[in-house]
Amino acid sequence: MIIAVANQKGGVGKTTTVVNLGTALARKGKTVLCIDFDPQANLTSYVACEPGEETVATVMRAAALFQPADLGAAVCRSDKFGFDFLPADLRLSEADIYLATAMS
Ligand SMILES: Nc1ncnc2c1ncn2[C@@H]1O[C@H](COP(=O)(O)OP(=O)(O)OP(=O)(O)O)[C@@H](O)[C@H]1O
Ligand SMILES: [Mg+2]
Repeated sequence: MIIAVANQKGGVGKTTTVVNLGTALARKGKTVLCIDFDPQANLTSYVACEPGEETVATVMRAAALFQPADLGAAVCRSDKFGFDFLPADLRLSEADIYLATAMS
């Protein structure tokens, strides 16, 4: 099952919802992967993830350019919250540019 938490309005509880929903589902025994799709990377900070070079930003860019991506290298594990986690970083803010190019 894929659950997307999205709202254009800021500060309405998106990140908080993802942390709590992800934690609750993991405690129920589900295997959970939380993906931070926000260039602000608040969720990444919240779970205290120190991303390496590979993040959702590099994975997205590679996908848009039909290049291979090392998804496994990008995924982190949060033992505190009990879920796997794909961190974001500011480079994700470039996605609208290369996605528009890739789709034209
Ligand atoms: N159910 C709630 N009740 C009270 N406060 C809440 C609730 N959910 C979130 N908050 C608070 O609201 C603020 C904004 O929450 P959050 O960061 O999750 O929003 P967001 O939609 O992800 O924001 P942004 O658009 O900046 O990414 C935080 O201070 C959070 O602690
Ligand atoms: Mg947020």
